[in-house]
Amino acid sequence: MKKRTIFLLCLLCITCMVKAADKPVIKISTENIDLIYKVSDNGRLYQSYLGKKLNHSGDIAYLPQGTEAYLTHGMEDYFEPAIHVVHNDGNPSLLLKYISHTENQVSPGVNEVTITLQDDKYPVTVKLHYIAYHKENLIKTFSEISHQEKKPVVLHKCASSMLHLNRNQYFLTEFSGDWANEVHMTELPLAFGKKILDSKLGARANMFCSPFFQLSLDGKAEENQGEIIVGTLGWTGNFRFTFEIDNKNELRVISGINPYASEYSLKPNEIFRTPDFYFTYSFAGKGQASRNFHDWARKYQVKNGDQNRMTLLNNWEATYFDFNEEKLVKLMDDAVELGVDMFLLDDGWFANKYPRSSDHQGLGDWTETADKLPNGIGYLTETAKKKGVKFGLWIEPEMVNPKSELYEKHKDWVIHLPNREEYYFRNQLVLDLSNPKVQDYVFGVVDNLMTKYPDIAFFKWDCNSPITNIYSVYLKDKQTHLYIDYVRGLYNVLERVKAKYPNLPMMLCSGGGGRSDYEALKYFTEFWASDNTDPIERLFIQWGFSQVFPAKVMCAHVTTWNKNTSIKFRTDVAMMCKLGFDIKLSDMEKNDEAYCRAAVQNYNRLKTTILDGDMYRLVSPYDGNHTSTMYVGKDKNKAVVFAFDIHPRYAEKTLPVRLQGLDANKMYRVKEINLMPGSNSSLRNNEKLFSGEFLMNVGLDLFTTQQLFSRVVEISIE
Ligand code: DGJ
Repeated sequence: MKKRTIFLLCLLCITCMVKAADKPVIKISTENIDLIYKVSDNGRLYQSYLGKKLNHSGDIAYLPQGTEAYLTHGMEDYFEPAIHVVHNDGNPSLLLKYISHTENQVSPGVNEVTITLQDDKYPVTVKLHYIAYHKENLIKTFSEISHQEKKPVVLHKCASSMLHLNRNQYFLTEFSGDWANEVHMTELPLAFGKKILDSKLGARANMFCSPFFQLSLDGKAEENQGEIIVGTLGWTGNFRFTFEIDNKNELRVISGINPYASEYSLKPNEIFRTPDFYFTYSFAGKGQASRNFHDWARKYQVKNGDQNRMTLLNNWEATYFDFNEEKLVKLMDDAVELGVDMFLLDDGWFANKYPRSSDHQGLGDWTETADKLPNGIGYLTETAKKKGVKFGLWIEPEMVNPKSELYEKHKDWVIHLPNREEYYFRNQLVLDLSNPKVQDYVFGVVDNLMTKYPDIAFFKWDCNSPITNIYSVYLKDKQTHLYIDYVRGLYNVLERVKAKYPNLPMMLCSGGGGRSDYEALKYFTEFWASDNTDPIERLFIQWGFSQVFPAKVMCAHVTTWNKNTSIKFRTDVAMMCKLGFDIKLSDMEKNDEAYCRAAVQNYNRLKTTILDGDMYRLVSPYDGNHTSTMYVGKDKNKAVVFAFDIHPRYAEKTLPVRLQGLDANKMYRVKEINLMPGSNSSLRNNEKLFSGEFLMNVGLDLFTTQQLFSRVVEISIE
């Protein structure tokens, strides 16, 4: 008996030793980044390292254990957990142990690691997914939760990602604002406790805060140096980022759906998949982090990210709701005159019982207003075709005005409280996309229009209201599912639209830039960054969005906002993104009109460089009275530099702007373009030949002390 016990004990020891020697080390790697997890003796998973790639595999054994990777509620941790589950028996704890992991290649340059964890007392499984984009240095993470308890468990929170950092100092940049005042960049140092960035607006989710952040380590964020993590959540709804510093000055970053009013009852064997969280880690400042995102977005994420974008003329600011066929045809002529690709008809073309003559009525009734458009959309697409321009159309299919036939017929499709007075945001309410019938209806808005008018070449999909009066008739006793199921319902619809119309470009709009996330951009080719088209404000707004989005997806239109600025200044600002116009040529001076025409031609010639090249932010508008940004073609043979003097001081000293991203050994001809007809360039050394080395080390005298002055310079190899 004794011998047997000793034998068994020995066996146990050997097994333990093998296990200890065997403890998995899991590496998620890109070209420059390593994220390393280790399984500890207790069988739990720890984040051991996140930082610059470690190229000597022998060193990895010396990494500290780190912090538990995906911390749970109810155990020994004292700070914010990644997950909180309540089991059938009311027990609110979870203890996750490593079970296995897999690694596989998704496509060349893209690898996926999946780590499976399980509770040792309850049949709950958590899978952590990491998809690493090698060249772009970007990692996408999401989690999947499932269980086999007898009845549903309640998910109180469940993060897409939890990252741990251990540095001296952390600086967070948030992107917040309001309507017409999007993505203000504010940087603040983090100290003990929590800083939360979130939204609980439901539909127009990013009206006050965009779902991305920059986290600079051991110093403030710089454009071209320093370690910085840039993260964003792909979720077109309530999101939350929690940054919490603990008693040891260690930081955890928890990203995911906002758990606010969203306890989710998860059925046995159902999988709860969180949204994707994407992050990049740059060792050369914000500029490199942005370029990582831009490359990744165009290659892997945005709808038709590798394809062309259309320039356009929109009628919104030219007419608002006050138009008829004649006015629209005149605007189509303007589009032709300007040389843009498309005419886009905005809000105000639909509804008959309650014609859409203002934003007070008609939303939901998607048939043409007979006295405004007696010949319907068909006449407009036909006319556009004859004139050689494409035709695009505005819709807002998720919403309804109470003064509409849709509301009268289907009150049960509307998110509103049954027993309270309704509260309206922009006189409208949100349809209940958790209901599959409503999903069919919303899909039908696009599908019916496309079936009837197959020549529609583009949609602008607007979403002006947050979710208010939150109650769903459809969800009955599952009201806390509404925020989540709304977004899932929206994705069902968008998925169907994309499947049926894979090449139909669509602009995402939400009362300006109220929706700005990468999951939505799987279904949209571009987004409307702001209703604020004052070019000075746009310099800041575009600067903000450019931190995570490429110019290709940001729509920028020339309008009449801020008439103190010249048409040249306004156009030059818009040309840094996806160019459009929202203006009447009849209100313009002939010279201005000629300028715009030439600018469109220049834009078409330089579009690939601007939209598909590498962006370098040279001088920040946040730093003073000037700003400059440049775009360099991938082959480094062509570049375009934009420079703006906003409100320079009298006799201010201006320094040359040093360019970036060129080939030091190539010779480039520098030429100012976008000049007003009849005027000459005042750029020193214009049309001269320079080496890339000179342009990057000495630079060009792009700035002046003139108020509201702008310059566009084309740089081409000989
Ligand atoms: C809000 C959008 O941001 C505008 O561009 C315009 O489409 C209006 N809605 C129309 O109602």
